[in-house]
Amino acid sequence: MEGQLLVKVCVVYDTRYGNTKRVAEAIVEGIKEIGQIEAVIGRPEQTEPAEMFDCDLILIGSPNHYGGPTKDIKEFIDGLGGIGLEGKHGAVFDTYLGAGFYEKAVKRMEKRINENVPGLKLMVPGLSILVEKSKGPIAEGELPKCREFGKKIADQLEI
Ligand SMILES: Cc1cc2nc3c(=O)[nH]c(=O)nc-3n(C[C@H](O)[C@H](O)[C@H](O)COP(=O)(O)O)c2cc1C
Repeated sequence: MEGQLLVKVCVVYDTRYGNTKRVAEAIVEGIKEIGQIEAVIGRPEQTEPAEMFDCDLILIGSPNHYGGPTKDIKEFIDGLGGIGLEGKHGAVFDTYLGAGFYEKAVKRMEKRINENVPGLKLMVPGLSILVEKSKGPIAEGELPKCREFGKKIADQLEI
């Protein structure tokens, strides 16, 4: 990644109540504070895994449902295997309700990516964001973490 090039960031997220979408947007805001990027944000059911071939950075997010990512996100990750994402960078994020469930969906997404999409290099540990109730809102103090996460990724990519 060269400083002058426009980096394409693709964010695929699932959501039932909109909180994970807000997290996706805040991460992109954080990246944009550091560097010039083109961001494409979409839902897994509207996104062909092959579209990720054009992306430099692939971010995948899901609400924690029963200790893991949603079915659509699992299927999307599986679809990334075998389309040649070697050398691309990625990271995952989740939203969760119970403190005891912290990072559960993130860890499962990372494991699934490492097993099924080995070419995709996960550059930072996944981000897990607390919601106050099932439908939200995102807990106080959590959105700044999303922007920091975006900035950390941008710093590492030197964009
Ligand atoms: C079917 C279902 C299962 C859930 N299971 C868990 C769970 O196991 N652990 C947890 O912390 N939160 C759980 N939650 C709460 C979700 O994580 C919360 O609704 C989500 O973060 C909100 O994000 P969204 O607005 O993007 O859907 C569950 C929610 C639903 C709807």
